[in-house]
Amino acid sequence: MDAASLRADHASLPWRVSNDLAAWYVVAASSQVREKEVLSATVAEREIVLFRSGETVHALDPHCPHMGAKLCAGKVDGEHLVCPLHGWRIQGDGRVAGLKTRVRSWPVVERMGAVLVFNGPEPLCEPPAEQPEFFWTAAQSGRIYAPFFSLTANAFDTHHYEAVHKRRLREPPLIEQPNPWQFSCSYRSQVTGHHLNDRLMKWLSGNDIKVTMTCIGGVLFTVSSVLGKRRASLLVGMTPEGDSTRVRLMVGSTKRGLTATLSRYLYTSFLKNDLEPMTGIRLNPFTGLSVDATIERFAHYLDALPEAQW
Ligand code: FES
Ligand SMILES: [Fe+2]
Repeated sequence: MDAASLRADHASLPWRVSNDLAAWYVVAASSQVREKEVLSATVAEREIVLFRSGETVHALDPHCPHMGAKLCAGKVDGEHLVCPLHGWRIQGDGRVAGLKTRVRSWPVVERMGAVLVFNGPEPLCEPPAEQPEFFWTAAQSGRIYAPFFSLTANAFDTHHYEAVHKRRLREPPLIEQPNPWQFSCSYRSQVTGHHLNDRLMKWLSGNDIKVTMTCIGGVLFTVSSVLGKRRASLLVGMTPEGDSTRVRLMVGSTKRGLTATLSRYLYTSFLKNDLEPMTGIRLNPFTGLSVDATIERFAHYLDALPEAQW
């Protein structure tokens, strides 16, 4: 299927969520934002620039307020981003040294080895909590021809776990919505597949996999996995690109080296199974069937999330 036919497919989707939800977006791995370098990134569908001064990462609009030069071509000098055209010195909070004008700045935090940016003047919700017990590494990032809300909803569609992921729920999932921003689903599953990753999961977990997924703001979710005595964690960030989605994965493991490689392999091989059924999907989560109750609840949660305020 080519990109043009996918766009045509998406012209009249049965269900849509804004591509500009007010939320924390995963914009880069922390390791990508190096000292003294300026990086272009995208939050929701807007371009921004990132730079690091000391321990802090800053996010600014991409153009200089003087004559509009692209700030991604600027240099970092101490706490300032220096415009490449006439040398205006811009602080991380957007103030320009010696002038009243300023550049729009965006709230930034680092969590789980990633840089998160909120697309509004002030954060409206809490970012995910840091999980300091894990080492974080970036796994594959890629573009999927499906709107982001189809992908987040898919994660909470417990009905597809057996057909696509070869996991059978051991009991009904526990759904919690502690506030309007968060939606979580906890479940225990057993393995029904026979691929290498299935057999590894079965062996590591004693065939009792405990998972809690928490979506925050509709565009990112965390996955906490318990396999017997072993634990691992995943951060999934979605960035809308029209009717496609850029997906970033950060994997948390309790040790570096082989354990980290194994965690990345198990999470990515689980998620790869979603690629084919998700590509080009025109998702209707409101089937009215009792087996689809979780995704329907999740879709109502997404529908109630606010859009960005600027
Ligand atoms: S365009 Fe940036 S200082 Fe002139
Ligand atoms: Fe899936």
